[in-house]
Amino acid sequence: MKVTVVGAGNVGATVANVLATKAFASEVVLIDIKEGLSEGKAMDIMQTAHMLNFDTKVTGVTNNYAATAGSQVIVITSGIPRKPGMSREDLIGVNSGIVGGVMKSCLEYSPDAIFIIVSNPMDAMTYLALKNSKLPKNRIIGQGGMLDSSRFRYFLAQALTEAGYPATPTDIDGMVVGGHSDKTMVPLVSIATYRGIPVTQLLSAEKIQQVVEDTKVGGATLTKLLGTSAWYAPGAAAAALVEAIALDAKKLIPCCVYLEGEYGEDDLCIGVPVILGKDGVEKIVEVQFSEDEKAKFAESVAAARETNSKLGDALK
Ligand code: LAC
Repeated sequence: MKVTVVGAGNVGATVANVLATKAFASEVVLIDIKEGLSEGKAMDIMQTAHMLNFDTKVTGVTNNYAATAGSQVIVITSGIPRKPGMSREDLIGVNSGIVGGVMKSCLEYSPDAIFIIVSNPMDAMTYLALKNSKLPKNRIIGQGGMLDSSRFRYFLAQALTEAGYPATPTDIDGMVVGGHSDKTMVPLVSIATYRGIPVTQLLSAEKIQQVVEDTKVGGATLTKLLGTSAWYAPGAAAAALVEAIALDAKKLIPCCVYLEGEYGEDDLCIGVPVILGKDGVEKIVEVQFSEDEKAKFAESVAAARETNSKLGDALK
């Protein structure tokens, strides 16, 4: 399997690095517009091959889309990241032009690829990629829910440990749906569990509320600490989606996908649980939300529609 990662910044390079170490792809191409950046990062990754024991071939190219030809999965991380104090939505003007152009170049050489969109504001970029490319909806997947769910599990594990139930994120099952947005993502508390036990039985309502708030601003907290947006978890999240597709794993993962009636919504890309396999989105799974989660999901939908309305001329 050949995978292309567009954008060799922190997130893109992390995707390539995780893919290399997981070693299920035969080839990973890293491409960027900045002269030498992809080549350097790819070479650096390849110089870990002996120590980390992988045979995946990682190559880097500057703006040469011919080198990406025949990719089965393409991860788009291009665009500018946010700075402290910015929302993901603030990036829409610059990033919509970049993502639109990248999609076009990729499709010229890999007409059958499945696309994973990481660039922010991710839900709007996924909608743009779908509308402009006119590809079938199973082949355009936005990465947000995997990352946000992983942060949710992390904060739940911290809270449970403090409450006397020692936990690591792998002890937790939990999912975040809705938009990949500080204000409107929806951690599904009602179905979050610790080794099968509902977390609502073990944590106070106040503690759970704190976990929800920490999860929602998880990206912003890191942006404040790092001076730019995070990359290890976003990169690992995108790589996890590639893996589910490459291995035809049929994993249930919340992803940003195009809705046509599911969850009562239409003509919108937003985070919901889906089954990911070799065909990309193989099924949208409709889970029962609590009344509160339903209301929050509706708010998230409204916010995503509002952001999409700002796509303007970028939307063909
Ligand atoms: C984050 C950015 C990458 O949530 O969206 O860290």
